Amino acid sequence: MARIGLIGCGSIGSTITEAAAKGVIPGVEEIIAYDAIPGKCRELQEKYGELVKCVENIEEIIKARPRLVVEAASQEAVRQYGQTVLGAGIDFMVMSVGALLDDSLRNSLVETAVKNNAKIYVPTGAIAGLDAIRAARIAGIRKAELITRKPPKALGLGDIKEPKTLYEGKAKKAVKEYPKNVNVSAALSLAAGIEAKVKVVADPHTERNTHEIIVESEATRIHIVVENKPSPTNPRTSYLASLSAIELLRRILQDKGLIIGS
Ligand SMILES: NC(=O)c1ccc[n+]([C@@H]2O[C@H](COP(=O)([O-])OP(=O)(O)OC[C@H]3O[C@@H](n4cnc5c(N)ncnc54)[C@H](O)[C@@H]3O)[C@@H](O)[C@H]2O)c1
Repeated sequence: MARIGLIGCGSIGSTITEAAAKGVIPGVEEIIAYDAIPGKCRELQEKYGELVKCVENIEEIIKARPRLVVEAASQEAVRQYGQTVLGAGIDFMVMSVGALLDDSLRNSLVETAVKNNAKIYVPTGAIAGLDAIRAARIAGIRKAELITRKPPKALGLGDIKEPKTLYEGKAKKAVKEYPKNVNVSAALSLAAGIEAKVKVVADPHTERNTHEIIVESEATRIHIVVENKPSPTNPRTSYLASLSAIELLRRILQDKGLIIGS
């Protein structure tokens, strides 16, 4: 049985907790959770009882020596707590992966992880194909591109009649301008080893959060379209993103037997 630390009790945090409560993530003894808004953790505790222990700061999570800490909060949270978690030799799963496009933050977190024998996990999030992109990288990648389409309200817009391009540029700037919407551009860039080109479109004709990925390499051309249902509790977040964290947690806690993919 394992303890899990959780930073952020919003949409992704609560879906992970539900999965642990239902045994979809087997072997979770306790989730030690922290949210900057204390009421968010209490909501989880009321729903899932003793499985959830609410704490008031990251140090209390570290003290409980969880198997790993899941960040499901914000890019700011990765900056605030990453060093403390990894410095304690505890693995860190990052959902707000946009933070890791900051080269100096990423390098210092990786250095701390290596020094303390800990790992930083990045789930595939709201996209597919990172396994093949990582493999293609070995042969050399010359292009990585992401086109994200979301309903206007997921991008903070009111009613519009026609699709509108809100951003066109590189991933590092995209994750700063749209920190809650294009974490996938960071995961893509990190997997490809080059900074992806990104286009963000508000589309009134779609109800899905759609990510189109184009990667060109010496080995292959990858063209993937992922059409995600938004999470019911946060329209910016795709349900698949929570499921990717749950799936990775299952594999980490399983640790032996049949492993499919990477
Ligand atoms: N990797 C991906 O593909 C992917 C996909 C969707 C969302 N995300 C990211 O995952 C994160 C969580 O998403 P969500 O939909 O659960 O968000 P949410 O807004 O529903 O919940 C986030 C929770 O974290 C808390 N929080 C924020 N910053 C904090 C901090 N510094 N310290 C403590 N608590 C803090 C908030 O109070 C909130 O309760 C976001 O950054 C989001 O952009 C990543």
